[in-house]
Amino acid sequence: MASTARSEDKQQTATTALTQHGRTTKTMTNLEAAYQAEYGDRARYLAFADKADAEGYKQVASMFRAIARAEEVHAANYAALLKGMGGATTLEMVTPGVASTRENVQWAIDQETKEKDTMYPAFITQARKDKNEDAARCFHYAMSAESEHFAVYQQAAHNLDDYKGGASIPFMICPLCGKTVRSLGATVCPVCSTPKDKFVEVR
Ligand SMILES: [Fe+2]
Ligand SMILES: [Fe+2]
Repeated sequence: MASTARSEDKQQTATTALTQHGRTTKTMTNLEAAYQAEYGDRARYLAFADKADAEGYKQVASMFRAIARAEEVHAANYAALLKGMGGATTLEMVTPGVASTRENVQWAIDQETKEKDTMYPAFITQARKDKNEDAARCFHYAMSAESEHFAVYQQAAHNLDDYKGGASIPFMICPLCGKTVRSLGATVCPVCSTPKDKFVEVR
C-alpha cells in the first residue's frame, strides 16, 4: 500500500547550525526547509519516473524526470544562498516510497499544491520581512515553477491512459528558475530572463 510504503521511507539526518551574522533568521530556517523539500521531491520524482517506465507510461516518466530537474535547480539555488549567508546546509537523505504511477501522480499533485499555495507564499512574506530579497526571489522562482508542475501533473491524472505507450516527450527547463515548459515561444525566460538557448532539454 502506498501509505505504508511511504511511512517506511528511510532517512538519515545531518544537523547543521544556520547563522547569519551570529543570528538565526526565520528565512534561513525556511531556506533549509525549502532545500530539503526540493531535494526530497527530486528524489521521489526520479523514483516515480523509473516506476512509470516499468508500467509503460513513457510520457509520464519523461514528465517526472523533467520536473525532477526543475526541483534540482531550486535546491541548488537554496544551497548557494545558504552557503553565501555563512550557514551550512541541512539535508535528510530520502529513500523514496513508490506506489503505482496513478498514486505517484496524485502524490505529486498534493505536494505541488502544498508548496505553491502554502509553503512558498509564507516563505516569500517572511523573506521580505527579513529584508532578504535574494531568498524572496528564489522562493518566487520555485512557486512559479510549482504552479506549472501542478498543472502538468493534473493534466496527466485526468488523461493517464493516454500517456501510456508512445515515445517520451521532452520538456525545456530553465537552469536558473526551473521554469518547466514543452516549448518556449519567447527568446528569454519570462520569469528570470535567462536566454532561451540556455534552457536544458529533459526527456
Ligand atoms: Fe515542482
Ligand atoms: Fe527562468
